[in-house]
Amino acid sequence: MSIVNKSFVSIDDLNKKEIETIFQRAKVFKKLNSQKKSFKSACFANTDQELNALLFFAEPSTRTRISFEIACNKLGIHPVLFLDIHSSSIAKGESLDETLSTLKCLQPSVVILRYKGSQFKFDDSVPVINAGFGSYEHPTQALIDAFTIEEAKGSVKCKKVLILGDVLHSRVSNSNLKLLKRLGAEVAFCSPTSLIPKDPLWSDVTCFSNLNYSLEWADVIMCLRIQEERHGMSIGLSLAEYRDNYHLGWDQLRRIKSDCIILHPGPCIIGVEMSREAFTDKRSLIKNQVTNGLFIRSAVLSLILDFKWLA
Ligand code: NCD
Repeated sequence: MSIVNKSFVSIDDLNKKEIETIFQRAKVFKKLNSQKKSFKSACFANTDQELNALLFFAEPSTRTRISFEIACNKLGIHPVLFLDIHSSSIAKGESLDETLSTLKCLQPSVVILRYKGSQFKFDDSVPVINAGFGSYEHPTQALIDAFTIEEAKGSVKCKKVLILGDVLHSRVSNSNLKLLKRLGAEVAFCSPTSLIPKDPLWSDVTCFSNLNYSLEWADVIMCLRIQEERHGMSIGLSLAEYRDNYHLGWDQLRRIKSDCIILHPGPCIIGVEMSREAFTDKRSLIKNQVTNGLFIRSAVLSLILDFKWLA
């Protein structure tokens, strides 16, 4: 297990040392950023070749794409964007897989890939970073979330993390479960019956059927968006029913611990998974997660592309 010069598809690809290294580097990048210093003062690419990153996003994205793009700029990696699949050869009938393997022939230094499934064959000729694969995994988001918990709570170990919402279709929750367990957190979830995950990964995870109990239990609440694009709302309940039973609003905010933190990978649909008050509550670190995305993704890129570390 190592991601140096290799693809990073799952949390399973990281060894323990690499998780620590990513967090250490992210801290250094965060500090440099606050001092308005260049990330290149902490590390350098160990090659004369120009580095470029192909950002291949076949599903919508805001935070993930822009944070990777800025991270590339900060590290001197040229980002090449492939976003509008409808103006590419895909519109002429070429499959997504075929287009991707064709673009790999142009030998980008790394491919940052958002993709509908998880079935792509990874030949490792060019490292691929998973920037969200269907309902499979989203490992850089999990790193951001764990890093944000560690910043707020000192450590992830023994913290009670409640994942709330559409766990069944969430790639974020799969990566989070793997990473948080490895870091020693206690993870539980609360979702409508139709959105309970079926993957064996979740079989020994506590499932709360009562929202109020779960809120009182949690040190960290991670809300998830209803992934309507993956199930077309054929989940046995309407958005209004979802809101009535699983929404984080005024009443729920009064139940959670005073030092509990609220996370959401975004995009957050205000009025569905949480109210404006919950989004802006002093315990909400949702905006910190977005900012931390820049530092974590810079750290991941520097590790995969084997940058020499000076700091
Ligand atoms: C998530 C994603 O795309 O998986 N967002 C993100 O990357 N920040 C979550 C979602 O779309 O609900």
